[in-house]
Amino acid sequence: MDPTEGSMVRILAAMTRVFSGIQPTGQKHLGNYIGAIRHWPAYQDLGEAIYCVVDLHSISVPYDASTLRENTLDTAATLMAAGLDPGRCTIFAQSSVPEHSEGAWLLGALATFGELSRMTQFKEKSEGQASVSVDLFTYPVLQAADILLYDTDKVPVGDDQRQHLELARDIAQRFNSRYGELLKLPEAAIPGTGGRVMDLQEPTRKMSTTGGTPQGTLLLTDPADVVTRKIRSAVTDSGREVRRRGEGKEGIANLIEILAIATDRTAEDVEASYDGAGYGQFKADVAEAVEAMIGPVRQRYLELRADEGHLLQVLSMGAERAQSLASRTVAEMKRRMGFV
Ligand code: AMP
Ligand code: TRP
Repeated sequence: MDPTEGSMVRILAAMTRVFSGIQPTGQKHLGNYIGAIRHWPAYQDLGEAIYCVVDLHSISVPYDASTLRENTLDTAATLMAAGLDPGRCTIFAQSSVPEHSEGAWLLGALATFGELSRMTQFKEKSEGQASVSVDLFTYPVLQAADILLYDTDKVPVGDDQRQHLELARDIAQRFNSRYGELLKLPEAAIPGTGGRVMDLQEPTRKMSTTGGTPQGTLLLTDPADVVTRKIRSAVTDSGREVRRRGEGKEGIANLIEILAIATDRTAEDVEASYDGAGYGQFKADVAEAVEAMIGPVRQRYLELRADEGHLLQVLSMGAERAQSLASRTVAEMKRRMGFV
């Protein structure tokens, strides 16, 4: 035996396992980037990082089958444009690894109707709809399977996923106490600044391609002039202080956080540097900083998206790696649960 092999195995086992997912719906926006995707590349060098385009989740609301494939490739290209390198991490489509659906069914036995009924995202997305799919209701169980199949330590997500992460932990704990210690309890990694980017037109709502306004949602594919226009026309307040706190300051607070992230400063620093300055200059600076941050991502996206063969190859390689890990967990879950 190679003398280094034993220690290599120990080192590999000690590495942090990171998993996160993103839906191939709509177009990805500044909130997705700031709250989640931007943080993902750093984990590539800390241990094993696994990123999943959650196409199964995306069919939980009405969708167009003829564009799902394109959207999945768009999303994979976006992740790579943001700095994920398929040589150093795993990128795959959820539907290519059937263990996700199987794991969700198994874990569904441990989740209750009551707790799923309390999920904020379910309540928001189902409210006022004439018809609500069963998949929308059980969505968080599939998400728990995504995470728990990979012995995940950390899940980098935006603030809106906090409740789903807590549920995943509860389900894992329940599995472990019923069937013996197996599933690792994952921790959410939610950014302190930028965990919830708000709509630029309606800053009391989070930025979203489904629940927000088109003018208030900055897409990662928006060209530079659109970026500038959307930020310059962001709703603020009738005051003139670049401050986060106070009545009606949601719009300004949102722009302060965005600028802080785009220029790698703290929100306090940004506030202090605009003491006495007007909104006009402030917004112009936000627009310029955001374009400097996402312009290169857009450029790389366009290049990567043009080579479908390469994207498909990345996804297929990723699915193979993911399945080799997930199948072990599902097999052990089934054994513990008493299946033949
Ligand atoms: P989704 O597009 O819903 O699959 O979300 C992908 C990731 O982006 C998740 O980690 C979300 O928590 C995050 N995210 C979505 N919208 C926002 C937002 N407005 N602000 C910050 N993070 C967000
Ligand atoms: N529900 C997440 C969202 O809407 C996407 C998601 C699915 C996810 N499975 C996941 C995120 C597993 C982290 C881990 O943003």
